[in-house]
Amino acid sequence: MCGITAFTGKDAALPILLSGLEKLEYRGYDSAGITLVDDQGLYTKKAKGRLKDLEGMLDVPSFHQTTGIGHTRWATHGVPSQLNSHPHTNAANTISIVHNGIIENYEGIKADLKAKGYKFQSETDSEVIVHLLDYYYDGNMLEAMKKTVNQLDGSFAICILTTDEPDTVYVAKTASPMVLGKSENGTFAASDIPAILEYTKDVLILEDGQMAKLTPSDISVYSFEGESVDAKWTHIPYDIEAAQKGGYDTFMLKEIYEQPEAIRETLRGRVEKEKIHLEDLEKLDLEKINRVYFVACGTAWHAGIYANSLFQKWIDVPSICVAASEFRYSDPHIDDKTLCVYISQSGETADTLAALKMSKEKGAQTISIVNVLGSSISRASDVTLYTCAGPEIAVASTKAFTTQLALVTLLILKMAELRHTTVDCKAELLEGLKRMPEVVSEMLDKHELMKQYAAFLKNQEDAYFIGRQLDYVSVLEGALKLKEVSYVHADAYFAGELKHGAIALIEKDTVVIAMATQPEVAAKTISNIEETMARGANVILITTKDQPAPKFKYVIRIPDVHPLLAVIPVTILLQLFAYYAAVEKGRDVDKPRNLAKSVTVE
Ligand code: G6P
Repeated sequence: MCGITAFTGKDAALPILLSGLEKLEYRGYDSAGITLVDDQGLYTKKAKGRLKDLEGMLDVPSFHQTTGIGHTRWATHGVPSQLNSHPHTNAANTISIVHNGIIENYEGIKADLKAKGYKFQSETDSEVIVHLLDYYYDGNMLEAMKKTVNQLDGSFAICILTTDEPDTVYVAKTASPMVLGKSENGTFAASDIPAILEYTKDVLILEDGQMAKLTPSDISVYSFEGESVDAKWTHIPYDIEAAQKGGYDTFMLKEIYEQPEAIRETLRGRVEKEKIHLEDLEKLDLEKINRVYFVACGTAWHAGIYANSLFQKWIDVPSICVAASEFRYSDPHIDDKTLCVYISQSGETADTLAALKMSKEKGAQTISIVNVLGSSISRASDVTLYTCAGPEIAVASTKAFTTQLALVTLLILKMAELRHTTVDCKAELLEGLKRMPEVVSEMLDKHELMKQYAAFLKNQEDAYFIGRQLDYVSVLEGALKLKEVSYVHADAYFAGELKHGAIALIEKDTVVIAMATQPEVAAKTISNIEETMARGANVILITTKDQPAPKFKYVIRIPDVHPLLAVIPVTILLQLFAYYAAVEKGRDVDKPRNLAKSVTVE
């Protein structure tokens, strides 16, 4: 995921590009770059690292060019480097482009262009775009764009500059976001509305298959066939924070709805047929490992429990998942044959970081699964795998968790492969993960139902989440989510343990949320739940399509997914349940009392 921005107008372009990139930094920040243009030619600067590293290279007030493009990058599957940073320019230094997306057929195009004598500076897919434009350009940029875009497969939002028209920006897009804006001082393009909202509230959301020409006073939109298109302008009536919420009432709801895309981004480039691309793992010596710890806090700890369950299923090495706050003081057995896997959304949680440092001192090999690039945990571990969920702002974790589940599934499958262990259901799981964004969308469509069920909590102060085996991961996460945002007391129980205590608390109208998605134990869970129904509980059952459940009034059936992946769709339902329970009770959903997003103290 990357962020792009462009401006042409009366004002100096550079400060506008930099402030736009700053708002887009959530889309990536391992390298950044800009090109400015005037009748003297192109001026391009790029830097590996954060935007401030680029800013350090530029003497802002002395750049008077009024036209430019900018880029900020988050390389999840390629090396962040100066050469791979955008913008990319042609050999004559007359055309410059920035690109967000993936050109899937770039290898073939690159080979053709090389045969025609083009020389490539970078390893990126994006560089083919500038050379294709150069190849087709004969003084008419729209014509060259038409030929270029029709040759590209994949996703792209592109901004283009040419020295022949130093007061013009050209853009094109398919399957990557691009908004255009117009003010008295010029015209703008960016990956997201907040990047231009400071300058204008009149925006045009470019559709797939459209390109546009931006001049200081006007924007003309065309189809990829070159036909002129009547563009629809929208006035954005809200401020920057509301824009960041993208039309949702809260960040939590927005982030819940971002999960199909977040999972897709996390898997992108990492699964190819039956092959898993997590090459960084090859840096480790996994064959010598004789003990594994999964360590994390809060929601990430639940992802650790899930990872550990898969690991134990497939790999014959003792392993355990421990909460970081316990692990760090438990004097665990660690030596150079130990592998520790740390999971953290923020990459800054104090207990997790301290546990990581302690295990490194004792000689362990370390992997971290982190969402925030460049965070302390990612810097301190031997190998970091990023969940590509984008920024998570609501305190209660949602999209980070489901991307962690998807990524640890790949991780454990890959570890099995590196240890020469066959996992029979690997192909099915990879296929299931690829389909997961659609499955998640199907679950999101059940929001009205979850809202209705959440209303059962109206006069209740407690809820019980129950399930067995892998359903226990959803049980833990569902109960935590409900506690965090609605302040309803929620207990997570193994269904089989109910009879050893908690059943004493069940009375008329007590809310019980039961998960029964694991085929070997679903019938057992259902019989445990029936015991609660006999005591008057209001039971909501989440189960699979074919599971008989004749006695239940409130049943939600998840789509066909491999049972090992059922935790993802079930979690979506439980997130919605917690969300609506909190809204119903009038809670501050994004900032629950007493909680912090990133806990950097012990
Ligand atoms: C805090 C947050 C939780 C989060 C936990 C671990 O308690 O409120 O949502 O799960 O920290 O955070 P991490 O950033 O390490 O995943």
